[in-house]
Amino acid sequence: MVRGLGFLVAAILGLSACSVHNADLADCTTYVVAGFRKIADERSQRFLGKVQEDTARCRGGERAVAFRSFPWVDWQNYWAVGDSASKAPGPSGEHVHLNPNGRGVDGALLDLEYQRIESIRFNLFDNNGTFEQYVQGRDHLDGPALKVWDQMRLPRNNPFYPAVGGDGPQLCRGELIRARTLTGICNDIRNPLMGSTGQMFARNVEFDTIFPELGNNPVVKNRHGERIGLLKPDPQVISRRLLTRTQSDPAKCNNGQGLPENSPEANCDYKKAPFLNVLAAFWVQFMTHDWFSHLVEGSNGTERMTMGCTTQLEAGVERPLTAEQVRQLNCRPDDRIDKALISVETEPSNFKHGGKEYLTRAPKTTENKNTAWWDASQVYGFDETSRRRVKRDPDDPAKLLLVEEPSGQAYLPLLQGVDPMNPQWAGQESVAFPDNWSVGLSFFHNVFAREHNLFVDAFRARAAATPDADCGLRNPAAPSRVIHYKDVTEDELFEATRLVIAAEIAKIHTTESTTQLLYNEPLFLSMNANWHGLLKDFPQAREVLEKIVAVNFGRSNDAKDATQWYSVFASGSGIFGLGNHVYADDPVFAKFDPAKKDLWDLANPDHVNGGINHFGSPFNFPEEFVSVYRLHSMVPDLLEYRDLKLDPNRVNAKIPMLETVRGKATQMIRDGSLANWGISMGRQRLGLLTLQNSPAFLQNLAVPRLSDGSGKIDVVALDIIRDREHGIPRFNEFRRQYGLKQLTSFDDFIDRRLPMDSPERTEQRRLIGILREVYGQHRCDAAKVITKAQVNDNDAPITDCLGHSDGSMIDNIEDVDVVVGMLTEFARPHGFAISETQFQVFILNASRRLFSDRFFTSGFRPEFYTQLGYDWVINNGAEKMIEKGMPNGHQIEVMPLKRVLMRTIPELASELAPVINAFDPWARDRGEYYSLQWKPRNGAESDGAFTR
Ligand code: HEM
Repeated sequence: MVRGLGFLVAAILGLSACSVHNADLADCTTYVVAGFRKIADERSQRFLGKVQEDTARCRGGERAVAFRSFPWVDWQNYWAVGDSASKAPGPSGEHVHLNPNGRGVDGALLDLEYQRIESIRFNLFDNNGTFEQYVQGRDHLDGPALKVWDQMRLPRNNPFYPAVGGDGPQLCRGELIRARTLTGICNDIRNPLMGSTGQMFARNVEFDTIFPELGNNPVVKNRHGERIGLLKPDPQVISRRLLTRTQSDPAKCNNGQGLPENSPEANCDYKKAPFLNVLAAFWVQFMTHDWFSHLVEGSNGTERMTMGCTTQLEAGVERPLTAEQVRQLNCRPDDRIDKALISVETEPSNFKHGGKEYLTRAPKTTENKNTAWWDASQVYGFDETSRRRVKRDPDDPAKLLLVEEPSGQAYLPLLQGVDPMNPQWAGQESVAFPDNWSVGLSFFHNVFAREHNLFVDAFRARAAATPDADCGLRNPAAPSRVIHYKDVTEDELFEATRLVIAAEIAKIHTTESTTQLLYNEPLFLSMNANWHGLLKDFPQAREVLEKIVAVNFGRSNDAKDATQWYSVFASGSGIFGLGNHVYADDPVFAKFDPAKKDLWDLANPDHVNGGINHFGSPFNFPEEFVSVYRLHSMVPDLLEYRDLKLDPNRVNAKIPMLETVRGKATQMIRDGSLANWGISMGRQRLGLLTLQNSPAFLQNLAVPRLSDGSGKIDVVALDIIRDREHGIPRFNEFRRQYGLKQLTSFDDFIDRRLPMDSPERTEQRRLIGILREVYGQHRCDAAKVITKAQVNDNDAPITDCLGHSDGSMIDNIEDVDVVVGMLTEFARPHGFAISETQFQVFILNASRRLFSDRFFTSGFRPEFYTQLGYDWVINNGAEKMIEKGMPNGHQIEVMPLKRVLMRTIPELASELAPVINAFDPWARDRGEYYSLQWKPRNGAESDGAFTR
């Protein structure tokens, strides 16, 4: 079957042996004739992102072959996956899959798909009690083919328990399925509890490999010995030595506080990403507040704990810090923080299957206090308390309340005494998720509140023009009753608008933000594939894929089919909108075809729920996903403030980030206007995710509620502590678990593609020296097996010596914390702001949150969104607009956030006109094919940012 698929894909991609004609003919022929590699049956046989030599040569020539021996994924060295310099000389062109550049990009896409399929296969570990069924199967079905679980039933104490069927079979219907519910229940109508507020975070790694600090089994003990603990190595020492930004002129930075009166003469050095702006950093923060939270109303438990600044390794031995060392490090032993909230910590039970022993859940579990759905819950609420902060306009309850300021601008109202609030939120806008408020969050919340109201206005205008027309909406309680525009209630319109806003946000994130965060051609294609389908420009190929899936795999109960093939074929047709049309001949993956009769029926639960796929494991984010979103290095210490009306090319003030958090963020936005903050954050580059690039202000953040210690915390150290509290495996095992190659020494981090004497490589060596001092070395013992996730190339177990000779001194690479390891990954694919390890986590979970969500698949229909809302999401507004030219060789629609900004902040029209992607620094000349150059576009030559 795999071979069959290989030839099908080869045919579609034009990779037939007879058509390959260049110097690499022999290699390409071998690779095609051998068929595509088999999807691994065992964890230890995984792809690891590494290809055979002939495949590498076919897709990237000798350069790709040369770098196969390094741990990093091979596709980054294929042709045409970087900027113009990565292209092979000779003929090329659009959709030419036969020449080297086409083979490079297609090869990368195939590698990415393998990684997604294998991650779906090996990395799903539910913590809500279904894992045993996933492994053992149930009712004669393989676990990965299961679609319904008792654990996802609403419990008796849920107010909707009777409505979904109580003790009998549970099925959501009527009002409960019309729109996104407050707590996220009934997204999957047969698994009402899935993804709702308070469900356990899942895991992507085996249960017995997490919480390595507990040393719960011999393999974990072998891996780390006695070397690690909650505060071992010391998190503040890691923060200060490995993560602190160095300053060329400390006085001008003033520890992140800038100069008096926000003088533009201030300067805090930080390593900048030329292809991403500060808006992108806050966009991610805005997203994480939608997806997950560990805290309740901004707090953890009441119990406090210390945060390190007490010990460090000296010649490999842990020693207490002297007062002088504390002073030099500039850390604080008296920082205190509340302990993480743990939900269950009783010992999990075991079971046996296929001769192996498994835990039924993680040794400790934690709850996602947010809905896991991409439902804009940071705006609209995720429980009763957060909903009370969401203010609707009393004059038109379909709208969110916006208050007009004397400036004439409308903003969200502030929190009032009657609102549920943590005292440190005083002075902020009243929103569902107000914690860690920043000027960027204030910006996006106001923008999307305006967008909500603009959509309502557009709907009302349509209703006024055609009051008796069918608006597309239906009430599932009376599915055949047409709802005319004039009859839509305020509540119905409010909820439909929420659906539209959530889908717009998901589209922005998938097609605009991620394609800039991962700025290269394969990622542009694959992210657009998640949305529109990889083969949208190949209608014939798509039809073939859809038919095969519908006939063979879509309803299959065979676990392999249900997981592997679903994913690969969805990459052809797109995840968004899967199952939202049903035709007699292809019921699962059909895309809109006006020539056919659409049988989709709101009264048929199989149609309502038909497009989703959880791959046998109920959806929630895994703890590992939270970890890879700890992106605090992106935030600069000083914000470069510009005034649109004066001179957009001039920075008028350098405002310390500290002056733009919590209530001050709200005031800043009002004083400066969304337009000025838009251009300021739109033009400024964000911080690279790398070592010694964390913001000083976050290392010294005053937290009023923690007055019993120093009153401050080091958020950068806290990132490390929280990961350890949540049981994230350390970096090397994390990679092995995710199907990536392990490292065998700290030197593996160094990017060997750089010339030996280049300044970058010298700097990398310097940083690796510090890493070695902080994490240390030990004398290895080749008798100790340290992992079950992978084996060596010769099938021998991986031992403590990691291939070095027994008894030699080796780096403590196993102990490196995930956040540190990710920041140390210097070798990255072109245009990757994040590391390949982080990306591996996204490949799995970013697709899953689309695959699992009814409102992005079979429920993306006018019956829920209204016809206007459905079109609004597809067209990025009232009508589709096409961008001028062919950015990076593609004709593209004007991207969705650019459209939202044009609508909600019309003052930005001229500034936004030349912008292609709203997350690319707005005044940058994007140059040719995925260029990362830092050059001004026409009209921005006088912008001083380009000379700094
Ligand atoms: C003004 C800016 C920011 C401040 C003051 C801030 C502050 C904090 C604090 C204090 C925590 C720790 C909460 C705890 O576990 O007790 C935290 C967690 C976190 N932050 Fe930030 N942050 C900021 C910006 C960002 C940005 C830009 C991102 C992403 C790009 C981000 C991502 C995260 C994530 C993923 C967590 C973990 C959340 C959880 O455990 O549920 N933060 N932040």
